[in-house]
Amino acid sequence: MLPNTASGQLYQRAVNVLVEGVSSASRGPANYAPYPPYMRRGAGSRLFDVDGNEYIDWMMSFGALPLGHAHPRIVEAVQREVVHGTHFATALEVEVEVAEMLVGLLPHADKIRFANTGTEACMAAFRLARGLTGRSKIVKFEGHYHGWYDAVLLNTNPQLPTTLGHPNDPIRIPDSSGLTLGSWADTIVVPWNDEAALTRVMAAHGRDVACVVTEGIMTNMGVIPAKEGYLKFIQAICKSHGALFYLDETVTGFRVGAGGCAELYGLKPDIVTYGKALGQGFPIAAICGPDWVMDGLEWGKVLHYGSHNAPRLGLYATKTMLEIMMEGGAVGFQQLQACGRKMANALREVINAQKRHPAIVQNVGSVFQIYFTDRDAITDYRDFCSHVDRNKFRLFANALLQSGIYMSPANTLHSLSSLAHSDADIQATAEAVARTLETL
Ligand SMILES: Cc1ncc(COP(=O)(O)O)c(C=O)c1O
Repeated sequence: MLPNTASGQLYQRAVNVLVEGVSSASRGPANYAPYPPYMRRGAGSRLFDVDGNEYIDWMMSFGALPLGHAHPRIVEAVQREVVHGTHFATALEVEVEVAEMLVGLLPHADKIRFANTGTEACMAAFRLARGLTGRSKIVKFEGHYHGWYDAVLLNTNPQLPTTLGHPNDPIRIPDSSGLTLGSWADTIVVPWNDEAALTRVMAAHGRDVACVVTEGIMTNMGVIPAKEGYLKFIQAICKSHGALFYLDETVTGFRVGAGGCAELYGLKPDIVTYGKALGQGFPIAAICGPDWVMDGLEWGKVLHYGSHNAPRLGLYATKTMLEIMMEGGAVGFQQLQACGRKMANALREVINAQKRHPAIVQNVGSVFQIYFTDRDAITDYRDFCSHVDRNKFRLFANALLQSGIYMSPANTLHSLSSLAHSDADIQATAEAVARTLETL
């Protein structure tokens, strides 16, 4: 029996007409027990559900809202522009303006191609890498998610593996049924943060590798930073084997700084994809790189289409978001990091003060995650699968949600700060976490 709440009633209606009552598996009962809260509106750092419950939101729409909900300048820009139409099937002034802003901000980008979602941008990037190099293989890392494209939907679901195989020869584990063997026959999976493993793979297959794709921070198993120098090592080994160094910044772009991980770690990637934060809540993604790479997407070479690419209203939101974040010399991006760091430190204090549940907090600037573990650090997917109590986290996050704090509901995800979060939000969250840990 579901409780007699407006969300419960909506869920009962929803399961009749929507698969699992939702539109993405990560929003369903796998992550929210016994059903998800149905949200009605957002304002700043807050969300309000259909029952009138208020939440401090640290999910920020999977990281898509660096300014928080319904920022007045975003609302003004979208309201101003919507009366002039939504979609023209032709080129737009705002498209040029945003592309110019991005090229100005990102040293590794001579040209931009807009898409809608991270998955689409990643798909185009893989095709581009293969088209440019004439090679078929992709190297990806255990635990790194690059959207739900068949070729890379491997080794990202910690529920599935009973064994991952020897690190020298990982077992490839598809995350979904419905994938043909052929779709991932050319995908090589390697443990991350392990220089020897990548060296061995590139020695054996390097001449056939179109690209090595990596997140700058492993953000799809919580928050796992790269070991010092590791990303530069990937960059160098790609260069020495003529493979493209592909940095997927779908989560980290416009999130860990204006220039994402490329700036943070001093990288010069050949292909970069963005999504999430770039659109400030609208579906905007981008592929970018130097001219010699991006010109591969010209007509007649590598195909990239999309009826909804570069959506007009979304681009006005992107333009406004970038203007706000860059005011006073990128002060917005600095504030975003400072807020995330403060939240992560406050969580560390609470966790260290209680003795019942051994846990650690990992963060890079504005992106953070709690792990229930007796380890000092979680450094790769294998650690995450074997040494993190994900079930305890699920119970914790759901209990926290009941007390009005919306953090990532699953350990594989991560929580994030926005410019809308205040010190009072951090304090209220820390207090609620302390109470929740007492009763867990
Ligand atoms: C690193 C990374 N790449 C790609 C994607 C896919 O993005 P989207 O969900 O917008 O398709 C995600 C989504 O979580 C991601 O984290």
